[in-house]
Amino acid sequence: MISSKMPNPLPIEESMREKMETLEKLGNTTLWRPHGEEYRTSEWYTGSGEITSDDGGLSFEVTATYQLKAEVKLVKGVFEVANPILADVYRSRGRCVAIVDQTVDELYGKSIRHYFDAHEIPLELLSCRAWESDKNPDTVHKLLAFLGKDGCDVSRNEPVLVIGGGVLSDVAGLACALQHRRTPYVMIGTTVVAAIDAGPSPRTCVNGAQFKNSIGVYHPPVLTLVDRSFFRTLAKGHIRNGMAEIIKMAVTDDLSLFELLEKYGKRLIETHFATVNADAELEEIADEVIYKALYAYMKHEGTNMFETYQDRPHAYGHTWSPRFEPAAKLMHGHAVTIGMAFGATLANEMGWLSLADRDRIINLCQELGLSIYHPILEDTEIMIQGQKNMRRKRGDGGLWAPLPSGIGACDYAREVPPEALATAVAQHKAVCEQLPNQGAGEEMYLSDLGLE
Ligand SMILES: NC(=O)c1ccc[n+]([C@@H]2O[C@H](COP(=O)([O-])OP(=O)(O)OC[C@H]3O[C@@H](n4cnc5c(N)ncnc54)[C@H](O)[C@@H]3O)[C@@H](O)[C@H]2O)c1
Repeated sequence: MISSKMPNPLPIEESMREKMETLEKLGNTTLWRPHGEEYRTSEWYTGSGEITSDDGGLSFEVTATYQLKAEVKLVKGVFEVANPILADVYRSRGRCVAIVDQTVDELYGKSIRHYFDAHEIPLELLSCRAWESDKNPDTVHKLLAFLGKDGCDVSRNEPVLVIGGGVLSDVAGLACALQHRRTPYVMIGTTVVAAIDAGPSPRTCVNGAQFKNSIGVYHPPVLTLVDRSFFRTLAKGHIRNGMAEIIKMAVTDDLSLFELLEKYGKRLIETHFATVNADAELEEIADEVIYKALYAYMKHEGTNMFETYQDRPHAYGHTWSPRFEPAAKLMHGHAVTIGMAFGATLANEMGWLSLADRDRIINLCQELGLSIYHPILEDTEIMIQGQKNMRRKRGDGGLWAPLPSGIGACDYAREVPPEALATAVAQHKAVCEQLPNQGAGEEMYLSDLGLE
């Protein structure tokens, strides 16, 4: 029933009116108030809801949903003046407020500035150092000072442009989420990790004291542009690091992607994803690999906005690693492949995965120079603590560790008892001892790439 105190009821769609009338007939007192489109100011977010009171007049319940539109596009030459995509986003807003990774600014700042100059769009750009050690609340405060009243004073519907790697996408995404409680942003991931995983991800965050990425909110970019030409300047160690997140989706969701990695993975690393010394065929393969990885990831992650469902294949390799990665100062990708290889051994121990498929996963990681073992796995306290933290993070209903049940498929281990964990670690150590470098990868530590 619409309250008589409401002076001008908003237009209500016919179907809603019918619903209200039916409820009214049933003696319920429900007010359903969809918001009028003429009052909407955001292009990307909509909200609607229902408020239901019981007959006693002392309590009521609100059910609300919000919907967002998040687009992901593979593009070429995003800062070539002839490319209209960004100009089309920012021209009508009269300016572009951008946060750019400091290294990316050094390498590409000139073209970024030239692009906006050529389109006569004023650019307000903050160059931000974004090392793993900068992934903390202080950096978020710095970004908020830039975005806020004493800085650029962004409007709540003005998409901030974020250009950089996974560290920047996590911290800048979080700053945007906090600014006006939800300010949209456009993401251009300039590393492989940011392009196919961290960039479009709804998860924005900073690191907690002992557990990575533990403080943050869900706030995906409204538009993600993936332009692999940025990878030409990326250190090979970072290209390899990004491969880990692609392997993760291949193993758990897409056999055809796994096969492409077996065939072309090494060449993709050597040619910086077909941006250096590559032919047209490899360029096509590079786009296909990126597209398949992105699609598989967003199919699961982008549609599970608040991680309320724990059937999340992309968490493969990320169950124990958030605890041991910072402790061992590992590159994120190497920590993930250690987690994945260990997960493959565990899945084999549990009867989920054949020995041949376990070895195929381990071989692919090794072939690409990624780590599959680190002695930190033997630190029972860290592993158990990691499990405990993860159970809490995933909602206390279980551990829900994704483990492969074949190549291109996975299932979820609700619990991994400490004895099973210890047996699998011993087994995994025995497997890796037979391998070259005992399972250590190339440039596996943060310090190897000067990122500490
Ligand atoms: N939110 C998520 O869902 C999610 C998913 C995966 C990873 N992550 C996070 O992402 C982070 C890792 O991201 P990353 O691997 O992109 O590392 P990164 O952001 O540290 O970038 C790596 C290095 O490359 C530099 N760089 C960036 N683009 C470049 C380019 N085109 N050319 C040359 N140098 C360039 C950066 O300045 C940095 O020094 C981790 O903190 C991880 O936790 C988050």
